[in-house]
Amino acid sequence: MKKITIAIDGFSSCGKSTMAKDLAREIGYIYIDSGAMYRAVTLYCLENGLFLADGQIDTGRLEREMDHIRISFRLNPETGRPDTCLNGQNVEDRIRTMEVSARVSPVAALPFVRQALVAQQQEMGREKGIVMDGRDIGTTVFPDAELKVFVTASPEIRARRRYDELKAKGQPADYADILANVKQRDDIDQHRAVSPLRRADDALLLDNGEMSIAEQKEWLLEQYRRIIKE
Ligand code: DC
Repeated sequence: MKKITIAIDGFSSCGKSTMAKDLAREIGYIYIDSGAMYRAVTLYCLENGLFLADGQIDTGRLEREMDHIRISFRLNPETGRPDTCLNGQNVEDRIRTMEVSARVSPVAALPFVRQALVAQQQEMGREKGIVMDGRDIGTTVFPDAELKVFVTASPEIRARRRYDELKAKGQPADYADILANVKQRDDIDQHRAVSPLRRADDALLLDNGEMSIAEQKEWLLEQYRRIIKE
């Protein structure tokens, strides 16, 4: 069967990853969470003192060290999903904290960071058969993807989802803080100079605010089947 490239973009915490992972597993494709890659670079900055006392990033040092930041994915046999590794170390849980969420947008706005990660993402998708989710997958990483989806839901619904996710993991969570973070990230993601979050002209729009995970999964699978038949 022909293999295609599937690009899933949208706002933060709108369930893109869940949809994308489920679809990839169902159809035997590779799944890549591109946001995890920006998060891993942010964790590297936090753990190596690249955030200066005033909160700014030491961009000179980060640019010099970019070549030494290796991000890979390793299948977790327990969850059946890929875990993110930073220089060979499993950092899946550490990249999902509020601390990383609060710092990731400015890191993801740095042109040299985007250039390095986009190149890695394009290499991962060279042979197609990939589902990648993020912000600029349908516009910048894979502009020729056969299936592009742009996912959205209200900030309140997305904040509630992230709150429930953190609580379920036993991590500290405050709904008001999370909502503020969601809105702030929307704003930075949409207004940054390089690859801002925007719906590609040929992307299908999915507002999943009122949809269950099962409904989203079915909808996405239908789109995939339709494209494969064409
Ligand atoms: O999807 P997420 O919340 O894990 O993404 C983390 C951050 O990375 C978010 O602030 C946007 C940024 N990001 C990006 O700029 N481009 C991507 N392709 C994926 C994520």
